[in-house]
Amino acid sequence: MKRMLSGIKPTGQLTLGNYIGALHHFVEYQDDYEMIAFIANLHCITVYQDPKELSTNLRDAVALYLACGLDPEKATIFLQTDVKQHAELGYILACYTYLGELNRMTQFKDKTAKNEQNLTAGLFTYPCLMAADILLYDPDYVPVGDDQKQHVELTRDIAIRFNNKYSPTFKVPEPLSAKVGARIMSLTDPTRKMSKSEHSDKGCIYLLDDPAKAKKKIMGAVTDSFGEIKADKVNQPGLYNLMEIAASLNGSTPEKIAEEFAGKGYGELKRYVGDAVATTLEGIQARYRDILANNVIDEVLKQGAEKATLIAAKKLDEVTKKIGLEIR
Ligand code: AMP
Ligand code: TRP
Repeated sequence: MKRMLSGIKPTGQLTLGNYIGALHHFVEYQDDYEMIAFIANLHCITVYQDPKELSTNLRDAVALYLACGLDPEKATIFLQTDVKQHAELGYILACYTYLGELNRMTQFKDKTAKNEQNLTAGLFTYPCLMAADILLYDPDYVPVGDDQKQHVELTRDIAIRFNNKYSPTFKVPEPLSAKVGARIMSLTDPTRKMSKSEHSDKGCIYLLDDPAKAKKKIMGAVTDSFGEIKADKVNQPGLYNLMEIAASLNGSTPEKIAEEFAGKGYGELKRYVGDAVATTLEGIQARYRDILANNVIDEVLKQGAEKATLIAAKKLDEVTKKIGLEIR
């Protein structure tokens, strides 16, 4: 069975973008692949987090992994800091990554361009830790949204470099992103990604939003004044984004939805999308409440960490031996 690995960094509540771009695929893939899904808590602190909030968000993220349908019997689910090898290999791989490569990372460049103050060294070297997260487990595929593809490409470069310098050690993984829904946009600004770090709450739907409130956000989404429903991503990005959301949730495509709604009003389309979102959230939230009530999280994480550590420890051992870090 081929192996797949991915993670989410819960620096806030998980969003509909996380669900459509990532989580929902983890669930789809868990039957056909050996799925490893972790919570990237070390990645969260590249930007300061309130300790209490962070801790709550981590617990919610695990509960949401399960509520969205990840099954601990099939997938390995764990917290990054429970497997100590991540941080160690992250440091090691930073020694095989060039400053120029990190400087080219779009996510980092965007932050620098925004003139954000006090950017940390952790934020700069974060792709090295992400490479370690991946390479410890030799996955064949890494399912991610579009924004993370560049980091997976860098991971490949680091793996190839290490393999060539020593001997084949790491499997070179492929990024995997879906045709529909790899980049869900903000509801208030369809040129920007829907993200938990958004300034306005209206642009982003959280998986724990009250479904009625989520529907309101969809009804208030920015569209255009053409007055005609078409699947035109370039000229009608707001409308296209709404169709992409519904298409991802209902297993359709924006083109098919545009055909169904041709000649109808934007309001009608928005109601359809809002209903799809509300129904999805209701299902997820009902399971989320059950999971919290049944106190299953600690056990899931314990078992996941045990399984993951077996793989990670073996790989790190191989790496340290090849480099010559051990005294023999
Ligand atoms: P993050 O929340 O940044 O840790 O992202 C976790 C996963 O969700 C990554 O695979 C992202 O690419 C994906 N993701 C985050 N936001 C979106 C979005 N707006 N649309 C699609 N995928 C997303
Ligand atoms: N960097 C990813 C994000 O912000 C989260 C992440 C960390 C990840 N390590 C990973 C995703 C390894 C895939 C594989 O979205």
